[in-house]
Amino acid sequence: MKMPDSSKALRRSENEGAPNPLAPPAPRKPATTKVAPMAGNSSWHVKASQPVHYEVRLCHRVFDVDRTDLLDAGCPGDGRAPRRFVVVDEAVDRLYGADLRQYLDHHHVTHEIMVVKSGEVRKEIDVVLRFVERLDHFGIDRRREPVIVVGGGVVMDIVGLAASLYRRGTPFVRVPTTLVGLVDAGVGVKTGVNFNGHKNQLGTYAAAKLTLLDPGFLSTLSRRHISNGLAEILKVGLIKDEALFGLLERHGRLVLDEHFQGLSAEGDSAATAILQAAISGMLEELEPNLWEETLERSMDYGHTFSPSVEMLGLPSMLHGEAVCLDMALSTALAYGRGLMDEDECGRVFAVMSDLGLPTWSPLHTPEVLMQALHATVRRRDGQQRLPLPVGIGKNLFVNDVRDEELVSAIELQREMALRGSLEVA
Ligand SMILES: NC(=O)c1ccc[n+]([C@@H]2O[C@H](COP(=O)([O-])OP(=O)(O)OC[C@H]3O[C@@H](n4cnc5c(N)ncnc54)[C@H](O)[C@@H]3O)[C@@H](O)[C@H]2O)c1
Ligand SMILES: [Zn+2]
Repeated sequence: MKMPDSSKALRRSENEGAPNPLAPPAPRKPATTKVAPMAGNSSWHVKASQPVHYEVRLCHRVFDVDRTDLLDAGCPGDGRAPRRFVVVDEAVDRLYGADLRQYLDHHHVTHEIMVVKSGEVRKEIDVVLRFVERLDHFGIDRRREPVIVVGGGVVMDIVGLAASLYRRGTPFVRVPTTLVGLVDAGVGVKTGVNFNGHKNQLGTYAAAKLTLLDPGFLSTLSRRHISNGLAEILKVGLIKDEALFGLLERHGRLVLDEHFQGLSAEGDSAATAILQAAISGMLEELEPNLWEETLERSMDYGHTFSPSVEMLGLPSMLHGEAVCLDMALSTALAYGRGLMDEDECGRVFAVMSDLGLPTWSPLHTPEVLMQALHATVRRRDGQQRLPLPVGIGKNLFVNDVRDEELVSAIELQREMALRGSLEVA
């Protein structure tokens, strides 16, 4: 059997049907594609890579009819009459649906808007199937009619998954409307829905063509959901950006009070600086490990114990709240190991409170947290790979936290949270 022919056959079958608009143009001589037989064996090894390029753009007043960012997003703009399938979170539709429709009508966009119910419990495969059914009926041209999704992390994750499945990949554009969406769910490439009692159990890695970040949406977001997003921002500050932590320390309460709307001069510059630093920091961490092949991810800070605690805390506990509890516990662990001093720990707990986040929960029992750690070890290929802060703005990974150490850290966390001080006997 001739290897070069097999190579062509493999590539041809991959390209059957309509061209995938998500795929980059094929290089004429792909340096990374190699097909070679193993000596004496009928075995073929294929190696290929696909570059990923996507843009995350700040865009104030995205539905202002004078702005064309959304209209131009992800399509060549060849003068043909535009058509778009748009998916919107129900609450967002109530608040901004009229602006969205006015925008689309103004630009003569033939459109269908699918409104999906809000909430984590709706993040299920049925919604994905309903979406693709309607999309199929609407009929889109994948080269010039990207799907648009407007809403928080829930609806963006659902639509991202659906778009990545529909005809093996349909371009989509995201407009996040929550703080979690702006700084976290809207900047990475993960999609997913919950399945069989597990969070994001069904999912893909699929980049949106463009994400348009409009902080104006945060004006109507509840204070608790602003705090929720601030937890992920605090995470970036704690593990890699001392200056961002300082911004949160000085202005965190103000940007929370002002919902990032820059109602005062101080709040305005702080909101901009905090968002910029959080998004840059997040992307710097994501880019070299987009498909999460490396299991030691500093962005997992706050995400070691929290998955189990969050599931136990549902439906009342929010993701960022569980993350903050985990960060508080990890701070106590770091203190116990001499990685942080008393003053640094006090500052961390004070910022958490300023941001309206919990530092203690009765769910933080030794039983729950030991089990949570074991569950995470299974997900991290048999090792803890637990990111711990080193002072403020740096981190390291440990693999040797024992039950007794965890129990003392839990007690220390409780003391620090309840007394607001590190003075433990
Ligand atoms: N893909 C990723 O990388 C990633 C990262 C972080 C989180 N997530 C996922 O994101 C989800 C959480 O996202 P979320 O916190 O945005 O939750 P969400 O999408 O449920 O939105 C929170 C609430 O705010 C409402 N809302 C949204 N925008 C609003 C606005 N502008 N004004 C008023 N109300 C508004 C929604 O209707 C909802 O009730 C989780 O499912 C999580 O798994 C994904
Ligand atoms: Zn998170």
